[in-house]
Amino acid sequence: MITALISRKGGVGKTTTAVNLAAALAAQGLRVLLVDLDSQASASLSLGVDRARLAPSSADVLLAGLPAAQAVRRTSVAGLDLITASVDLIRAEAELGVFRAKETRLKAVLDPIVRDYDYVFLDCPSSLSLLPVNAVVAADAFVVPVAPQFLAVTGLCNLIAAAERTAWDHGSRVRPLGLLLTLVDYRIKSTRLTVDELRSEHGSLVFAIEIRVNTRLAEAPAAGQTIFQYDRKAKGAMAYQLLAGEFVMRAKRSD
Ligand SMILES: Nc1ncnc2c1ncn2[C@@H]1O[C@H](COP(=O)(O)OP(=O)(O)O)[C@@H](O)[C@H]1O
Ligand SMILES: [Mg+2]
Repeated sequence: MITALISRKGGVGKTTTAVNLAAALAAQGLRVLLVDLDSQASASLSLGVDRARLAPSSADVLLAGLPAAQAVRRTSVAGLDLITASVDLIRAEAELGVFRAKETRLKAVLDPIVRDYDYVFLDCPSSLSLLPVNAVVAADAFVVPVAPQFLAVTGLCNLIAAAERTAWDHGSRVRPLGLLLTLVDYRIKSTRLTVDELRSEHGSLVFAIEIRVNTRLAEAPAAGQTIFQYDRKAKGAMAYQLLAGEFVMRAKRSD
């Protein structure tokens, strides 16, 4: 199953979730692939890839015809493979335009390798530009991380509808697997209100598990480690492990 992490806002925990959810699933013995589609390559760097060694990346696969299998690399997490991103993705918006099927390009190039994995995650840049469009067309499902700040809840229905319609327009189907509360901090007074609002508006679409603010989660990327490598006793590690359980339950329910 291919899952895209999408949101219109940046800094809501897409990358943190992609990396640590993928790692939690790999720790259960599942075969997992993470495809980094953000030109900032945060997921790749978070997994310990040196900035100078990002090539070959998803840009080469999408734009230069490199077979995806040749861009796949092992990570320091057993069972977790990675296709890195690179700054070359900045050109993707423009250069994908030359392909006749510019929205279905990712789906086509990943097709030969996805069957090697139990779960594939697509870490997207924020917005619904051509790369995330490619991601939702290639994906079976998507997860929307939501940080419960002011105005966080607005526009989520639009995003979900837009993602579903985009996939549909290009001959594929994608379903929302869930909205995930991230960076939750109940010391901030408005948090409870926003969380309640989200849960009452979207009901069971919201993951039961919430990812609280946890300093260790913010520290791990700089060490090039997942939370399980950096501090497996951290609350954030427990949260992502629990999320992996709920994720698998949802994934199985809907296929
Ligand atoms: N639960 C959390 N607790 C503390 N910091 C977090 C948490 N989740 C993410 N962060 C930090 O917040 C920032 C944005 O998260 P990130 O996953 O990069 O968001 P996005 O990919 O949506 O832009 C990063 O610096 C990350 O380390
Ligand atoms: Mg990111």
